[in-house]
Amino acid sequence: MARIFILNGVNLGTLGKRRPEVYGSQTLDDIEGSLRAEFTGVEFEFRQTDYEGEFIGWVREAGNADGLIVNPGAWTHYSYAIHDALEAVSVPKVEVHLSNVHARDEWRRRSVISPAVDAVVAGMGAEGYKVSIAYLLSWS
Ligand code: DQA
Repeated sequence: MARIFILNGVNLGTLGKRRPEVYGSQTLDDIEGSLRAEFTGVEFEFRQTDYEGEFIGWVREAGNADGLIVNPGAWTHYSYAIHDALEAVSVPKVEVHLSNVHARDEWRRRSVISPAVDAVVAGMGAEGYKVSIAYLLSWS
């Protein structure tokens, strides 16, 4: 069975309440539930934290998995520490953003983590996690 880590970073625990017009009305629990229902053959580690060090520890842990999906929230735009942690693990990796970061504030257009991942998905809402899982499964 494929083991896939889905790591959500800062502020993503408030999904559903936070700017639903941008991020959708589903909570993170809703998203997790729909992924587990759809991909019954996948063992998920689905997590969220507001602490960067904890997030980095989980990235390292994912080094032993079959795939890694990260949505680091605002850390995406400035955390060289997360970039370096991602670069150090050789598992297939996807960066996901619910919103289209390129159609929003100027500072959101830059991701410092994109050079350390295999693929980037933005603007598909929760569907972005599904397409990323399908992509990761194509590696195995
Ligand atoms: C986000 C986009 C980031 O710019 C923002 O800071 C987030 C969420 C997204 O999923 O669209 O917290 O990563």
